[in-house]
Amino acid sequence: DVSFDMKRVVPVSVVELAAEAKHLPEKFMKSAENRPTVAHNDYCKEIPVISLKGIDTQSGRESIVAEVKRACEEWGIFQIVDHGIPADLMKRMKENTMAFFQLPLEEKVKYATKPGGFPLGYASGSHRADDDILDWRELLVHRCLPKAVRETDYKIWPAKPEEYRKILVEYSDTMNVLVVLLFGLISESLGLPVDYIKNKVGGEEAEQKMVLNYYPQCPQPDLTLGLRSHTDHGIIAVLQQENVGGLQAYKEDRDKWVTVEPIPGALVVNLGDQVQIMSNGKYCSVEHQAVVNSNDTRLSLVTFANPNAMAEMGPAPELLSETNPAKYHSYKFKEYLPIAFSKKTKRVHDALLI
Ligand code: SIN
Ligand code: FE2
Repeated sequence: DVSFDMKRVVPVSVVELAAEAKHLPEKFMKSAENRPTVAHNDYCKEIPVISLKGIDTQSGRESIVAEVKRACEEWGIFQIVDHGIPADLMKRMKENTMAFFQLPLEEKVKYATKPGGFPLGYASGSHRADDDILDWRELLVHRCLPKAVRETDYKIWPAKPEEYRKILVEYSDTMNVLVVLLFGLISESLGLPVDYIKNKVGGEEAEQKMVLNYYPQCPQPDLTLGLRSHTDHGIIAVLQQENVGGLQAYKEDRDKWVTVEPIPGALVVNLGDQVQIMSNGKYCSVEHQAVVNSNDTRLSLVTFANPNAMAEMGPAPELLSETNPAKYHSYKFKEYLPIAFSKKTKRVHDALLI
């Protein structure tokens, strides 16, 4: 399909540039205030790491819920270990993703995202057609749930490497079990019933997107970003990163960026805008970005747990009272997306303040 302008969709091959360029090409040059201020390997040891071991007992679960509550209140980002995702599945998913991005550009552009609408498929430099300054990353975006959507999209997923589609299905289903578990923990940590978030987002009809990021090594990592600063617009993101660091969160009360330490086998959990709004501001979505480095290629595999487009979102009525009136309007999730992609405000949920 060559009916769209490939140059606009895949403006540049970051992988090819990484192999050739001695200097950062101008279109990746971030303005001074957007450049990294903290190194990719200067790890912050304080970001909570929560073990889910013992979650099947009542006392175990209670203490995990308490840890989740503290992590959500103080950080909006935390890591989990003993989460039950098989190490072998994480490894196969990583290897297949790696193998895709190392394919020749002609192969990758077969899956290029189309201009207009929501990005889906392969993109490089940016997933937006109208960007002036690019990010130092290539990416794949897939819709993996609900199942009916996955079945429609399956045929447009990469056919190479050979195992890719099969593994993505397995990864999607396995991660979804963990996502539902995390929904339960976050619900309980807010004093809501365990199924609260799960039901709110549409149960089996909730949306899951996978975004697989490939950040090649970069000749001048101090002048650019792998992924610009943003908050995630859904409920949570569960992120698999390997041994190379680069994910940074903005710690607002310290006015400081902190780097998440890559811990083998751990998964990072980010709170998205919908949790901030649902909790009426008790929890905050975390602003984050990815930095790159000159030595290593970095990979991050991100499972986005979002509401169904038709789900009614807004502050949970159960949490509101005379002393805690709604701070945000209510809306259908599909109405949130145009705001999230309008680029007008970095902290998107501000647009919904009452
Ligand atoms: C993301 O924000 O979705 C990805 C960040 C990362 O690559 O660590
Ligand atoms: Fe993100």
